[in-house]
This record gives sequence, C-alpha cells and structure tokens, in this order.
Amino acid sequence: MEAGRASRTSLIQNLPNMKFFIDTANLDQIREAAELGVLDGVTTNPSLMAKEGITGKNNILKHYVDICEAVDGDVSAEVIATTFDEIIREGEQLADLHDQIVVKVPMIRDGVKALRYFSEKGIRTNCTLVFSSGQALLAAKAGASYVSPFIGRLDDISSDGLDLIAEIREIYDNYEFETEILAASIRHTMHIVECAKLGADVMTGPLSSIEGLLKHPLTDIGLEKFLADYRKGNS
Ligand code: E4P
Repeated sequence: MEAGRASRTSLIQNLPNMKFFIDTANLDQIREAAELGVLDGVTTNPSLMAKEGITGKNNILKHYVDICEAVDGDVSAEVIATTFDEIIREGEQLADLHDQIVVKVPMIRDGVKALRYFSEKGIRTNCTLVFSSGQALLAAKAGASYVSPFIGRLDDISSDGLDLIAEIREIYDNYEFETEILAASIRHTMHIVECAKLGADVMTGPLSSIEGLLKHPLTDIGLEKFLADYRKGNS
C-alpha cells in the first residue's frame, strides 16, 4: 500500500506539463496571455501575419523578433518555400533570428526531407498542416520537434479532430517518439480540455479559448456572495 502510494506520487511528480501556446501574431494578445502567467509559446502562420498587416520580408522577420521578446518560450515561424533547398535557406535564416524560433515546415515531400535535415543540424521544427496519423508518423520519423494536427479544420469538414489527437498519442507512445503533439486549429475552450484529457503535449489556440478556461457562472455567484457576506460582517 505504502509502496503503491509512493510510486503514484513519483509518477505524478514526473508528469509533463501541458504547454499553452497562443495562435496569433498580435503582440497585444501575446502580452495579455503572457501576463496571465500561463503562456509557454506562440504559433504564427502566414495568414496570421497578414491579418496583423505585417507584410514584406524585413517587417516579417522583425515581427518574429518582437514576438520572441514578448514571450518566454518557443515561437513558431513558418517558411513560405516549398522546395528543399529553399526551405533550408529560409529555415536557417529564421532559426538565426532568435534562439526561441522553431521553424514551421509544411507536411509536403520536401518538407519531410527538410525536417530530417534540420533535426540533424539541431534546428527545432514544427511540422504543420497535419491531418492524418500517417502524416504525424512520418513527421516523427523525420525528427520533427513538434507535430501540428489541425483539429478545428478537421471538425469543419465533419471529421473528428480529437480522434486524430488520440491516434497520434497512441502511435507516439507505442514507440516513445519524442516529437511533441501540438494540437492546433483549436477553436474553443472545450477543445483544450479534450486535448488535455487525450494527452496532447501542447495546445495552440486563440486568446478567447485560453480565457474561456477561467469562466464558470458558479465562481462569479460564489464570489459575489462571499464578498457580500464579508461586507455585512465588516460594515
Ligand atoms: C497552427 O500552428 C496554425 O497556425 C493554426 O492553429 C491554424 O488554425 P486555424 O484553422 O484556426 O487557421
């Protein structure tokens, strides 16, 4: 009994922490999430950069550095290139910007080759646009640091994004792959909770999905009552 309790305690102490990334290029939102004290990193993509009006190569590179300075953690910066040589050139330039940069590489043939190359060079990667467990297996074999299954976009086409997280978790655990499962395309708070139950290593979502974790009407009602009772007793 005692031994069982001891081993359970050490198991709990060794459990990994689920990382929270914010999926935006908006510096105010990144700072707001960081101030909450639960932010472990940022993911961006070309659409998110365009949404913030960040255009032109130099502005984009500068913005990545600004993001790195706003958060204490990994920042995924996506390559635009789609051929091996160009992905390598662009990825190395991104990695040189800041030691928090993780090079985001699409799940395409030359992308897989580039994942292997970067892995051998010690450059960290995030394999993006992953929609099947086969793609996730390939990314892990190629040495990706993170794999990004897009669960919201699967849900959008009547597929179950969370099933994909479960499948990848099972496959990675079977072989002890070190690639971290980064649940992406999170649309709402319950996606985060479900991903946590399934053992995703990381989730990336909008600020609203993270702040949604805070909310419960019984918390608000309970606090109002505690404060009212305090005021009654201390007036
Ligand atoms: C992941 O890194 C992507 O930036 C992102 O999660 C895509 O999400 P979306 O489907 O909401 O665009």
